[in-house]
Amino acid sequence: MADPLLRLKSVRKEFAGGVIGLDAIDLDIAQGEFLTLLGPSGCGKTTTLRVIAGFEAPTGGTVLLDGRDITPLRPYDRPVNTVFQDYALFPHMNVSENIEFGLWLRKIPPADRRKKVAAALDMVGMSDKISARVTELSGGQRQRVALARAIVCEPRMLLLDEPLSALDAHLREQMQVELKRLQSGLGTTFVMVTHDQTEALSISDRIVVMHDGRIEQIASPATLYDRPATRFVASFIGTMNLLEARFAGLSERMMKFDADGLHLSIPAAGEAPGLGESRTIGVRPEDILISAVAGPATTPARVANIVFHGKALRIRAVIGTATEIVIDTPRQGETSALQAGTNIHVYVRQDATCPVLAA
Ligand SMILES: Nc1ncnc2c1ncn2[C@@H]1O[C@H](COP(=O)(O)OP(=O)(O)OP(=O)(O)O)[C@@H](O)[C@H]1O
Ligand SMILES: [Mg+2]
Repeated sequence: MADPLLRLKSVRKEFAGGVIGLDAIDLDIAQGEFLTLLGPSGCGKTTTLRVIAGFEAPTGGTVLLDGRDITPLRPYDRPVNTVFQDYALFPHMNVSENIEFGLWLRKIPPADRRKKVAAALDMVGMSDKISARVTELSGGQRQRVALARAIVCEPRMLLLDEPLSALDAHLREQMQVELKRLQSGLGTTFVMVTHDQTEALSISDRIVVMHDGRIEQIASPATLYDRPATRFVASFIGTMNLLEARFAGLSERMMKFDADGLHLSIPAAGEAPGLGESRTIGVRPEDILISAVAGPATTPARVANIVFHGKALRIRAVIGTATEIVIDTPRQGETSALQAGTNIHVYVRQDATCPVLAA
């Protein structure tokens, strides 16, 4: 990245009592991108946002904005705005007063304030609620007001901590689309925290996967899904079979592996392992195919159980000595006759991307 808008350089946060919240975080955030911090509870997502916003002083490292060290700056002196999980609207003010407040603090003249409030409300589709009391609004409407309040002062960067977690599934999905549309329309850099991988995959330009105060991987949603770098990322994003596989040799620039009888073929890159050496390889359930008859590349399997997933079936099957694999298969034709105990033959789709995973 040429000139990031914001850069975290070896940022460390050790809390009183020795709890390590963040451990050497290096992160560049580009102007105009939608970046998501994703990871399990306690991995340091909120702490990262708070360090960027200035609510938390790092115990090591620096925060740079446009190349300038802003580590000592107070929150109010940073061109950054935060939408908190509970929205934190002022209950005694109506919708327009809530949004206007930041403009008033900045001593914007009343006529300009009214124009900006109207534009911000229009952007979140809430123009008809301009005079409503905050307490009369639904969760989704409060969410929109909180967004309008955050964007009205035109921050360089908007930080959102689990902004949609209070909403029901349907509204949440609708708000994800709107949030993305709002972000592209404004061209503002959004940094959002979530622990919902589906949300992160559907909304982000890039995702930062965090684990234990460290960054595991930074990549686009498709890259994270297709090429997770570590076991942790592979098991956190979607469902992944993590198979112990032995190297069985090179053939036509492909590395051949054997995972308890299942044949895996991976484009050769870097140094090949020694013959018989073991690697952990990720295989997506949708990349394992079922055949009724044995073929040169298939391996025998026995169906252990089947779970109905709407248009797909999720099948757990056992191969080789006792390796359990998960298979997602469309519910059609002969697969609908499968049941526990059925003997099948399985193979990995030829064009599947099967990542070799670091520990
Ligand atoms: N003020 C604090 N004092 C002590 N420890 C803290 C403090 N704030 C956070 N921590 C610790 O730092 C770690 C990271 O916390 P953080 O709130 O950033 O996690 P998170 O990824 O946002 O989790 P969640 O998904 O549960 O919100 C945790 O182990 C947490 O207990
Ligand atoms: Mg948090």
